[in-house]
Amino acid sequence: MRLPLLTSLALSAHALRIIQSNDDGWAELYVRSFHDELLAAGHDAVLSGPAENRSGTGSTDIEPSPRTSPCQYNSCTPQSPPTPLGTNATSPRLNWVNSFPVTAMRYGISTLGPQLWSGAPPDLAVAGPNVGSNLYLQVHFSGTVGAAVYAAREARIPSIAFSGKSTGTLAWNTTPVPARSAVYAQLATKLVNTLTAGGKPYLPEDVWLNVNFSEVDGEECKDVEDFRWVLTRINVGVFSRPDVQMCGRTRLPTETEVIWRGGCWVSVSVGDAADKSTADAGRQGVVAERLGGLLGCFP
Ligand SMILES: *[C@@H]1O[C@H](CO)[C@@H](O)[C@H](O)[C@H]1NC(C)=O
Ligand SMILES: *[C@@H]1O[C@H](CO)[C@@H](O)[C@H](O)[C@H]1NC(C)=O
Ligand SMILES: *[C@@H]1O[C@H](CO)[C@@H](O)[C@H](O)[C@H]1NC(C)=O
Repeated sequence: MRLPLLTSLALSAHALRIIQSNDDGWAELYVRSFHDELLAAGHDAVLSGPAENRSGTGSTDIEPSPRTSPCQYNSCTPQSPPTPLGTNATSPRLNWVNSFPVTAMRYGISTLGPQLWSGAPPDLAVAGPNVGSNLYLQVHFSGTVGAAVYAAREARIPSIAFSGKSTGTLAWNTTPVPARSAVYAQLATKLVNTLTAGGKPYLPEDVWLNVNFSEVDGEECKDVEDFRWVLTRINVGVFSRPDVQMCGRTRLPTETEVIWRGGCWVSVSVGDAADKSTADAGRQGVVAERLGGLLGCFP
């Protein structure tokens, strides 16, 4: 159940400038539902996403080129002369960049966001929710992760990458909005609000959070409150040093174990932006403290 009044009251004190990107394209519904949910929560969100699906392009960053064909789902028409960037004429918070996810994030942080924020930088960068999950080996190739890692490492903006296991492409104007898009947007907003509630700094330096949601399917996992949140590792940790102590253990479960288990789960991994691997126990501990009672144990 949602408590809109409480939420907006609690949040008015923490309205953030949030830059959004993704890799499935600026007109994909998951990123638009998240955008709407952030605005509804009182945040000042600006989207800067690729003009089309650029999934699997990792950290590729190439200057945008003039767009000569319509964007994904016919969501933009080419201008004459063609332009490398574009804005929804009636919603200037919604922007496309004719290039890769990292490039779109870079333009969002340096230009598109500050244009609407009187020159101020974003407080937080978010990528996704990505449409679909793969095994952890995919993290290196994920454009969603690439965009979040760029923000954390190059732009020094705390960042979060979100990914939802439920797949299927959805255009931005799909109605009614399917449950999976709405639930992922609410879960992502809940994490943003919990992480930032205590003020700055939201995350340790050079860290991004990699957050995965399990499937929203039929009657299963249709409510935010159905989900249980677990601190995880990105990769298996057989030879790694101990993780932060949680639930009486010093080895966290992997995202794969949690997300592929069945049931309603959110995995939250603390990522090291230097190499896209799992951050050390010290930095995991800082995040665990921030998220506090949101986190539970994995059986
Ligand atoms: C542009 O914004 C308008 C008004 O918010 C909206 O109705 C329309 O669907 C948007 N189109 C795209 C492609 O974002
Ligand atoms: C984007 O393309 C990739 C493959 O290139 C595909 O797996 C993914 O589902 C696509 N995403 C959307 C939202 O269509
Ligand atoms: C978690 O999310 C990342 C980023 O979208 C993705 O690359 C990875 O495959 C996901 N992992 C699992 C286990 O779903």
